Amino acid sequence: MSPKKSKKSTDTVTITDNSTGKSIELPIRRGTEGPSVFDIGKLAQTLGLYTFDPGFRSTASCSSAITLIDGEGGRLTYRGYSIEELAENSTYLEVCYLLWYGDLPTKQQLQEFTRTITYHTMVHEGLRDFYKGFRRDAHPMAIMVGVVGALSAFYHDDIDFSEQHSRNIAAHRLISKMPTIAAWAYRYSQGEPFPYPRNDLTYAENFLHLMFSYPTEPYQVNPVAAKAMDLLFLLHADHGQNASASTIRLAGSSQANPFACVSASVGTLWGPAHGGANEAVISMLEAIGSVDRIDMFLERAKDKSDPFRLMGFGHRVYKAYDPRATLIRKVCNDVLRELEVDDPLFDIAQELEERALNDDYFKSRNLFPNVDFYSGIILRAIGIPTNMFTVIFTIGRTIGWISQWNEMMQDQGMRIGRPRQLYVGRQHCTYQPIDKRSNEETQSK
Ligand code: CMC
Repeated sequence: MSPKKSKKSTDTVTITDNSTGKSIELPIRRGTEGPSVFDIGKLAQTLGLYTFDPGFRSTASCSSAITLIDGEGGRLTYRGYSIEELAENSTYLEVCYLLWYGDLPTKQQLQEFTRTITYHTMVHEGLRDFYKGFRRDAHPMAIMVGVVGALSAFYHDDIDFSEQHSRNIAAHRLISKMPTIAAWAYRYSQGEPFPYPRNDLTYAENFLHLMFSYPTEPYQVNPVAAKAMDLLFLLHADHGQNASASTIRLAGSSQANPFACVSASVGTLWGPAHGGANEAVISMLEAIGSVDRIDMFLERAKDKSDPFRLMGFGHRVYKAYDPRATLIRKVCNDVLRELEVDDPLFDIAQELEERALNDDYFKSRNLFPNVDFYSGIILRAIGIPTNMFTVIFTIGRTIGWISQWNEMMQDQGMRIGRPRQLYVGRQHCTYQPIDKRSNEETQSK
């Protein structure tokens, strides 16, 4: 099979199966920006052939109008607005509105939206009991998978998610309840009381109150910490068709309950190749321990026989500096200065970055710091324990997941996601009754 550009028109690609001589002309579809695609929808029915692309290295799984990543230019936009402008001028909730409804809110729309989110932060009392079933030393992401999934038992079958109104309510519930659920995962691990949300606080302030307040004394939110927290939520809000966003699209395509689908995305995010990298970066910096050991770890990252990778470095789409990392690095400096925190891991991280960016291995592969490289330093400075880092990512990314789900649900042509496979297994085996099977035979198969 040889894909080649058609001579007739630049807007098609012709695929010819050389074994049968059959051809198909496939339309090229161009987006408003970014790489074009050729639409293979009719390929199987015409040629009886499927495409093979594990890891989706050359495959667009959907069309989307939510987030643009310009990987070569190191640029990120939400609904057309640059991440830098949003970070400078907007709050996380304003960005949630933008992602969900498609445009920036007016003052009144933002007030109403903020009020809706603020007044739905409490969770069903029955949900509190779920926590008791977990071991105290469970990873908070494991608790998140369970408790977020359990929301589907509270908001379930009688809701028709094919209606936009029902989807709006589901979105409001998820955005508002996620900080409560997340903070309680931490409080449970500490054997501490679960505080109730406070409606007089902003989204980020309320999260810090849920994490750190005690019923025995008043809690003063540190404004520097709250501002940094809000920014981190905003910078993590969406990122196109990454693994956890693709998970919610696939799970949701079966028309399953959205709370169950979000829980599937939480599980996907947890992996160290995805959102779990922020936690892994801190473990790595701690393992490096001092600047004079950096070169040894760089050598390990370059050694193909060693599974170690530089965590918080590299990205499937960015072949330039991740713009979120640029913003986070700057805020990292500000937060440490304002909170008067001297974190030796920040020094190691900066030196590590400098050396990696001057190393041919990283240069030739376009490996730059990603969103996870510096975020953990900020979180440490405001007192967030390392095992909560990916949970923080989860809170911020919830709006992205449900916006991706909503966009898919609005698509009239939506079908259940169902990839094919290239079967490479055995064929036509002769069944042997159990007393006739030998160990060697079984193992050789
Ligand atoms: N350290 C050392 N080598 C690396 C790294 C790294 N962090 N990342 C990529 N490479 C090498 C890789 O070995 C390969 O080399 P070669 O061409 O010689 O075989 C080349 O760079 C291309 O890498 P890849 O694995 O084919 O790239 P990918 O697109 O499949 O993986 C990634 C992307 C993010 C999983 C990978 O860069 C990685 O494992 N990074 C560390 C984990 C991390 O920071 N993850 C967070 C991603 S950003 C947050 C999010 O959106 O989830």
